[in-house]
Amino acid sequence: MKSSAPGRLLAWFDRQRRDLPWRRDRDPYRVWVSEIMLQQTRVETAGPFFERFIARFPDRASLAAADDDEVLAAWSGLGYYRRARQLLAAARQLEAQGQGWPTTAAAWRGLPGVGPYTAAAVASIVFGEVEPALDGNAVRVLSRLAAEPGDPARAAIRRRLREIARQLLDPQRPGDGNQALMELGATLCRPRRPRCELCPLVGDCRAADAGEAESYPFRRKAPAARRQLRVVALVSHRGRLLMFRRASDDAQLAGLWELPWAEGQPGEKTEGELGQRYGGRWRLGGRLARARHAITDRRIEAELWGASRDDGDCVAEGPEAGWHEPDRLAGLPTGSLDRKLLRAAADNGAEETRGAAPAARRARR
Ligand code: ADE
Ligand code: SF4
Repeated sequence: MKSSAPGRLLAWFDRQRRDLPWRRDRDPYRVWVSEIMLQQTRVETAGPFFERFIARFPDRASLAAADDDEVLAAWSGLGYYRRARQLLAAARQLEAQGQGWPTTAAAWRGLPGVGPYTAAAVASIVFGEVEPALDGNAVRVLSRLAAEPGDPARAAIRRRLREIARQLLDPQRPGDGNQALMELGATLCRPRRPRCELCPLVGDCRAADAGEAESYPFRRKAPAARRQLRVVALVSHRGRLLMFRRASDDAQLAGLWELPWAEGQPGEKTEGELGQRYGGRWRLGGRLARARHAITDRRIEAELWGASRDDGDCVAEGPEAGWHEPDRLAGLPTGSLDRKLLRAAADNGAEETRGAAPAARRARR
């Protein structure tokens, strides 16, 4: 006889479960700390941090008695430090009440840093409450099992997924059932190319049955690309162009040299903006070229303007500046919008950009 889905899920988990430091017992403190860490940190990463944290603060009382800075130091490297502050606040609150532990998901939910997911995880793992814990991994598994087309960000859809999860929990072992769903999502039911052939639930999975596992869960379409107007300023001195370097930790184009630019229509406002960004007083002269450039989330429409700059009364504390010869740009890390603009300006016959055209063409190849 075919065993039930909860039975197969648990049997799979019993074979596959990773030996993780917080799974060695059901101590509320340890499980709680681990679930807070796992809110934004992967299981593999959290392990060593967890052991160190527990060695430093072995129980709730020692945590509650610690200084904020000590706790943040023990958390360092994990990121999302708000979690550490909330963990500490919750430990102090529970110690001040002088009682034991909350034993239901509903009671856990009131504590700082504890949302529905963490409350359900702790209550099911430690206290055996049959309450589904839906992290991102579990949501993916459940959406696929049901071929649920709705957006799991919506409350009605989450409620539906939670009911499906509840059916999958063995009332004798709800904590293991929750962990099994999360683990299944983390290991087999991955966002791309899930390993359905190894999955204990493949016979119950509508998405896999239709060969469409990757179509779930519903994902909101990326917002339409935003249109951005840019004025790019060309300041030239003795055949060299003024450029600035993006910070090496910039989210985009880190470390690249670029022509100074400001968002908006050419005019006093953009002149002022250039001063804000790069220091000094800026004056725009005439337009030299136009170009369009599309990146992930923006459609940039740029105009290259001849410009002059003096130090004014504003000392630049902004990005690193440098003067570069247009025909040497091919050897510098630069962005493709600047190359397009310089090439177009050279094609238009702009003196300052002489030499940029061949360099830009070389760079494009
Ligand atoms: N992700 C968050 N908590 C987890 C747990 N207890 N087991 C597996 N994955 C998890
Ligand atoms: Fe995920 Fe495939 Fe298992 Fe369905 S059968 S739950 S899609 S791994």
